[in-house]
Amino acid sequence: MLPHKLIEQRLQAAVKAVLPEADTASVLVRPCPDPKFGDYQSNALMALARSRKLNPRQLAADVLARLDVREWCEPVEIAGAGFLNFRLKPEALLRTLSAAAAGEHLFFEKTAAPRTIVIDFSSPNVAKPMHVGHIRSTILGDSLARALRLLGHRVITDNHIGDWGTQFGMLIVGWKTSLDRAALEADPLAEMERIYKLISGRCDPDKPGFDAATLDRARAELVRLQSGDPENRAIWREMIRLSESQFETIYRRLGVQFDYTLGESYYHDRLQAVVDELMRRGIAVESRGAKAVLSDGSLEPKDDPFLIHREGEWVPNPFIIQKQDGGFNYATTDLATLLHRLENWRADEIIYVTDGRQQLHFRQLFATFRRWHPEAPVKLAHVWFGSILGDDGKPFKTRSGENVRLAELLDEAEERALQVVTSKSPDLPESVRRDIARVVGIGAVKYADLLPNRQSDYVFSWDKMLALTGNTAPYLQYAYTRIRSIFRKGSVDPAALGAPPAALPLTAPEELALAKHLLNFGLVLEAVGEEYRPNFLCNYLYDLAGRFTAFYENCPVLNAEPGRREARLLLCDLTARVLQQGLKVLGIETLEQM
Ligand code: ARG
Repeated sequence: MLPHKLIEQRLQAAVKAVLPEADTASVLVRPCPDPKFGDYQSNALMALARSRKLNPRQLAADVLARLDVREWCEPVEIAGAGFLNFRLKPEALLRTLSAAAAGEHLFFEKTAAPRTIVIDFSSPNVAKPMHVGHIRSTILGDSLARALRLLGHRVITDNHIGDWGTQFGMLIVGWKTSLDRAALEADPLAEMERIYKLISGRCDPDKPGFDAATLDRARAELVRLQSGDPENRAIWREMIRLSESQFETIYRRLGVQFDYTLGESYYHDRLQAVVDELMRRGIAVESRGAKAVLSDGSLEPKDDPFLIHREGEWVPNPFIIQKQDGGFNYATTDLATLLHRLENWRADEIIYVTDGRQQLHFRQLFATFRRWHPEAPVKLAHVWFGSILGDDGKPFKTRSGENVRLAELLDEAEERALQVVTSKSPDLPESVRRDIARVVGIGAVKYADLLPNRQSDYVFSWDKMLALTGNTAPYLQYAYTRIRSIFRKGSVDPAALGAPPAALPLTAPEELALAKHLLNFGLVLEAVGEEYRPNFLCNYLYDLAGRFTAFYENCPVLNAEPGRREARLLLCDLTARVLQQGLKVLGIETLEQM
């Protein structure tokens, strides 16, 4: 078992012994923010003492009297208002490293309580090219799926593509009247986007090109599609097929896979039943000809997603589930989708990854669902993110003001990475350089997207993301490659490294700092999964690479005396393995050579 887990378990047992009625689930052991005070720390006793009006230092002393962690820690210290500080014994550290070397763990453990977690991400819309806005959902969602899977959860990834809705009326008119077959062949999404823009421009009463006849025709085509007209169905299916094959090309380049692609259309014949049930149960009501969920007054106005503050008062902010014209919408589909995921997949948790503009939608969706199924134990999370900005601080666009296409962005990433690789290693054959450039370029784009706090906007910068120094993917990939080259240089097979001699604990401060950081890998993975923040892992890996550099600059490895050499080679190998595994969780590949 990993030391912090073991300390935590023993601490929880000691707390139970002193306070039998206490809920010890919140008694956690975490790395010390400042290594001066120790390696791990718990601040849980202070809260337990406060709520019971006990003296926190006295409680800490009582708990310590029942806590035996002698084989792992130096004597435990009580600090400040009742913190417990734990310092690992060097032998304990070495034991943990040896267990990792023996393949027992890589500083993380699979969860003892696996959950079924559905992750709804990427979810682009049919007949529209994916653009950089979709990149964040795809990259973030994929990374969360990887982290949660690695921790032993049953993860189901579902691409909820937008393949149903009023836009298809216009698309079908465009398809029937203005389609350029050759253009469709060459670039299907661009051609579908063109016909969509053409027809939607004529259907908008506020635009100069408005044409009432086109609008009527679009409505009629939509009705025919919805009532199952074979010709319209065939066109619609063709548009989905073409779009999906384009999306697939991008997913392949990004190394992203979905277990399911159940688009909005999958649910369309269940929507009436959802509305009927919500009406029957009084959860939805008639509201100005539409059917909608309104506030039930059970929440504070500021927390109530069905109210909005306008001109000094709280006014209704309805969640419309059936429009005046009888049509269903995004909300209705999401309610049906949620139910499907619970009933068919038995989801314990559902994570939706979209941009921040959909916050209100998901607050209303979750609140409606809680009223509909108050007992369902499912955890619902909207993992939202900010925008990608250009140098000018405005949403990232091409020079001519168009949305940047994801495919073109990835091409450019690889092209720019190729220049970097070529300037560093001009002698490598071109095919090798191209493969390196692919891994580095795609990795750089992904990492730049995962590193910022997801809720803030970030400025897209090629130079920054491709830099070989600083907190970037190429820097981490390079750190990995550098470690692997130590083994090549010394002709050492990492697989053949035995356990380090127990009599030789690590002593140099840089060795200790590196080793202790390795031990925290699992804690970081868990935090990523709990808070849906891969940036924690980015920063952890960056810190790991920095500690490795400090170690390598101060501690000879290949030329160290026997015994020490093995221990240090082991540290090198474990660092490389954690770097590789960590990058893999971020969806980023590593290379043996760069
Ligand atoms: N297709 C939607 C969009 O592009 C995202 C769907 C997100 N998932 C969901 N279940 N609503 O905005």
